[in-house]
Amino acid sequence: MDELQNILSQLDPRRMPRHVAMIMDGNGRWAKKRGQNRSDGHYEGITSVHNVTELSSDLGIGYLTLYAFSTENWNRPTEEVETLMYLIGWAIERELPELLRNNVRIHLIGDIERIPEGPRKKLFDCRDATAHCTGLQLNMCLSYSSRWEITEAARRIAELARRGELDPEEIDEDKFASMLPTAGIPDPDLLIRTGGEERISNYLLWQIAYSELYFTPVLWPDFGKVEYARALVDFQQRERRFGKTSEQIATD
Ligand code: IPE
Ligand code: IPE
Ligand code: MG
Repeated sequence: MDELQNILSQLDPRRMPRHVAMIMDGNGRWAKKRGQNRSDGHYEGITSVHNVTELSSDLGIGYLTLYAFSTENWNRPTEEVETLMYLIGWAIERELPELLRNNVRIHLIGDIERIPEGPRKKLFDCRDATAHCTGLQLNMCLSYSSRWEITEAARRIAELARRGELDPEEIDEDKFASMLPTAGIPDPDLLIRTGGEERISNYLLWQIAYSELYFTPVLWPDFGKVEYARALVDFQQRERRFGKTSEQIATD
């Protein structure tokens, strides 16, 4: 049995996360360690995206949400931003046949209008081409930050109230969640961050209220199926209590 099969055999198929979110970090350091350009790290990172998507799909995970480019990442040097935008368009186009083969649906989250027209069109084309797929939903967070989405939701709610279409009394957690771009998507069960930093970097602040957090020093381009499977095993060993006691959970 190879290493991946060995780790996968430890997984309980009845306790798989429905939704896994990932902060794909460490591309730049991966490249630097090899004396290469940061762009080489971003390029290599595409292979990891391919691998985690494939394994999620094979394991029947419902939703995979990837942080590909943050609102704050617009402040990086122009050349790096341009390369990232080019790579995002190039990768989504290259991956489309495989996504279709695996019945994967692409959903875009973020201020997509800020993405340059070339890659933006490729993203929209891929989203539209996979709209009928019923397997894994792959949420790509691009030009995204959670404070951005929360502010947008607040603005929409205020606008509806101003027009008399929403009574402030009706605003509860479900109503608020329905205004976020993640509406209809269950909250992540597991959030994985690669690259060794133990921070959230403006990601899914509302949605991860009760997610299990998994931080690994492995740099994103080195994060393959084996590392992912290890994170899933770790997740299954945790007891999620949601505010209750251990005894309550045992009898639930
Ligand atoms: C993650 O890798 C990719 C993006 C943020 C777009 P980084 O580019 O942040 O890599 P490090 O953290 O500098 O190593
Ligand atoms: C977070 O990574 C954003 C993405 C992975 C897209 P960063 O590398 O930008 O995070 P910080 O700024 O170091 O926290
Ligand atoms: Mg980083």
